[in-house]
Amino acid sequence: MCGIIGIASNKPVSINIINSLKKLEYRGYDSAGLATLTNNFINEKKCSGRVEELEKILFKTPSNGNIGIGHVRWATHGVANVINAHPHSSEQVSVVHNGIIENSDEIKKELEAKGLKFKSQTDTEVITLLITEALKNSNPLDSVFKTLNKLHGSFALGILFKNFSDIIIGARRGSPLAVGYSNGENYLGSDSYALKSMTNKISYLDDGEVCVLSKDNVNFYDANQKKINKKTHILSENENIADKGEYKNFMSKEIFEQSKTAKNCINEYIDSLKRDINIYDFPLDPKKINKIILIGCGTAYHSCLVAKYWLEELTSIDIEIDIASEFRYRRLKFNKNNLYIFVSQSGETADTAAALDICKKNKVKTCSIINVVESTIARNSDWVLPIHAGPEIGVASTKAFIGQLLVLFILSLKLAKIRDDIDEKIYEKNIKNLKKIPVSLQESLKTENNIQVMAKEFLKAKGSMFLGRGSSYPIALEGALKLKELSYLHAEGYPAGEMKHGPLALIEEGLPVIIIAPKDKYFEKTLSNMQEVIARGGKIFFITDNKKIIANDNIRFGLRVPFLNNLLSPILLTIPLQLLAYHVALLKNCDIDKPRNLAKSVTVE
Ligand code: AGP
Repeated sequence: MCGIIGIASNKPVSINIINSLKKLEYRGYDSAGLATLTNNFINEKKCSGRVEELEKILFKTPSNGNIGIGHVRWATHGVANVINAHPHSSEQVSVVHNGIIENSDEIKKELEAKGLKFKSQTDTEVITLLITEALKNSNPLDSVFKTLNKLHGSFALGILFKNFSDIIIGARRGSPLAVGYSNGENYLGSDSYALKSMTNKISYLDDGEVCVLSKDNVNFYDANQKKINKKTHILSENENIADKGEYKNFMSKEIFEQSKTAKNCINEYIDSLKRDINIYDFPLDPKKINKIILIGCGTAYHSCLVAKYWLEELTSIDIEIDIASEFRYRRLKFNKNNLYIFVSQSGETADTAAALDICKKNKVKTCSIINVVESTIARNSDWVLPIHAGPEIGVASTKAFIGQLLVLFILSLKLAKIRDDIDEKIYEKNIKNLKKIPVSLQESLKTENNIQVMAKEFLKAKGSMFLGRGSSYPIALEGALKLKELSYLHAEGYPAGEMKHGPLALIEEGLPVIIIAPKDKYFEKTLSNMQEVIARGGKIFFITDNKKIIANDNIRFGLRVPFLNNLLSPILLTIPLQLLAYHVALLKNCDIDKPRNLAKSVTVE
């Protein structure tokens, strides 16, 4: 959460800072700010709200200076207002920060006892004042290291110094930070995507590392302040390209490109000639795997939940799943024959990254299913299976979810094959069906016209309920999550069979209830659960891949997606739910790509 940019150049930097901040807005959009240095003066400009507002301020009162730092904020400590916006500057230094300083209250008390005054409610300001104090008898690098030694928590920092007008210092502990190189210009950024328009030469800081960059030079230091060399990555041409093209917003583009991204993913993993799956180099002999534990947050957790059904159905392996923020605090019994799989689009989610660290400390084998391959989680895993979805910018995850499901399904199949849990013919049939997914996704997207009509029915609703059984249960959870995060409408996802144990009390005349009922072993049972809802006045929206039942007096709306086989139905059933959330949010005039209170990459606990 929060995005950082820093530029040291031989020409004015404010316009490039603004352009990079626009790319970083997916990380936070509560407030924005920048600081440049002109004639040894820290020129700070901040606003609440979007980068657009900051741009207007700069248009009226331009900021000069060939060196500067910028920030977009997702508020943690202190409300989202101008005072709490970053940078936080003293007369001597200016700081932008991503992450949380866990001992900020303690440090604040110590500094206040010395007579220092705080302007904001943020945890960041302690860093500004600690560096300012340390600078009284140290050089910038020493004062940053002295300050880092006092901080607890995880963070990335960008720091500008009034009296050392040619350098920016960056530091990383837990939160991502990249360095970019160009001629007469060097950069600091929360990710390579923000730097892509300026350079394709990137290095990534590891935990505990610090960098000092000027326009002509970058030096790196490890946690012991020893100079180190870093590898430079060259980003490929099409890496990180993110443009919404003719679409109204990134989310609609990402929904409608799912057929293409799914095709990319399937092509990467399926060897059509050999009718086999290209997954080798397992970190653990698949035949010896005792248990698989799948871990993720939000939508990524939902894909773990779908995978649990697949792995249980296809393999003889024992499966467990957990939400990363719970996993990291459980008293777990680690087993070296277990495989721990981490699912994350961004690869930077703090809880997932911390859960991975715990596994590493316990010396068990880890795998990550990831979209951003240069991310922290990918780099820290023993084994990486990319989803090949391309940059996902909309805060609500869509194409990454489908990509995660595809990779998890492919992995389940491959494990089943290696362990002799699956018949060769069934294995090949599943591969054949997988290859039909892109076309079937395209077909599923054709439900959009009906969904636009259906979405109107949600405008006056007090809430809504999404119900499914088996692997449709996680899809119900995902449908409810999409609707609440995009349209701010209350939505509950439940296993349909669980309704009678309490949630049925919520059903009243006209409450929209979305029934997800594919043609599987649960179909008839889900219909019975639907009757219980109808009897209590619920307004039914029925989503299926079954040719049977769609026109029924008690069903307000029926939607059908193509049927491939029972296992693959969760992938196709997701599409109408994404479209529903999108169209309800559109009708409610919500900010589709940047829903309130959220951010794309959750790098705080
Ligand atoms: C999805 O729509 C969400 N915005 C959110 O739940 C997200 O999936 C979660 O924060 C995990 O992110 P990750 O996949 O980048 O780890």
